Amino acid sequence: MAIFPPTKRVWWNEPVEKSEVLWIFIALIWALVMFFMMPYWHINGSQNLSNEAYRIRPEVFAKRTEEMAAKYKVGEEGDTGVPVVRPPAGSDVYMLGRLWEWWPVLELEKGQSYRLHLSSMDWMHGFSLQPENINLEIHPGYDMVLTVTPTSSGEFSVVCNEFCGIGHHTMVGKIHVVDK
Ligand code: CUA
Repeated sequence: MAIFPPTKRVWWNEPVEKSEVLWIFIALIWALVMFFMMPYWHINGSQNLSNEAYRIRPEVFAKRTEEMAAKYKVGEEGDTGVPVVRPPAGSDVYMLGRLWEWWPVLELEKGQSYRLHLSSMDWMHGFSLQPENINLEIHPGYDMVLTVTPTSSGEFSVVCNEFCGIGHHTMVGKIHVVDK
C-alpha cells in the first residue's frame, strides 16, 4: 500500500510492472494522436477560428469603431440607445468591449463576409457568440480580427464570459444577421 514507505529503499531501480508500461504506451500514443489532430481539426473540422491579432492602442480602436458607427448608423436599440450599425458587405467592422457593454450593435448581411475587429477598452472580456460556439478572449491593446460569413439570419447575442467586475452579467451585446 502506498501509504507506507517502500520496503525497498531504492525503489526506482525496480523493474516497471508490465501493465504500467502498457498504460504509459497507450497514453503516449493517445497524446501523439491528439497532437496531430490539432492541425487536422483546424483545417478539416472548422474547430478553430483563423484569427489574427495586432497591437493597437485602445483610443485608436475606439476612434475607428466610433467612425464606423457614425457613418453607417441605421437605428438605435435598448434603453441606452446603443446605435445599430450596418456597415457595407465586405468591409471592416468593429465591436468594442468595455465595462459593461459590447458596442455597437452590428447588422450584417447573410452570406456576406466581413472582417470583424474586436478589442477591449479596459481589461479582459470574453466574446462568446450565442447560440454559435464561438469564444474569444478580448484584450485591451490587441485588435483581434476574424473573417466572418454569417450563414443564417436572426439575432445573435454576444455574452461576456470572462468575469470583469460587478456588471459582468449585464455585459451583453448583439449582432443582427439579415437576409439581403
Ligand atoms: Cu466583460 Cu465580463
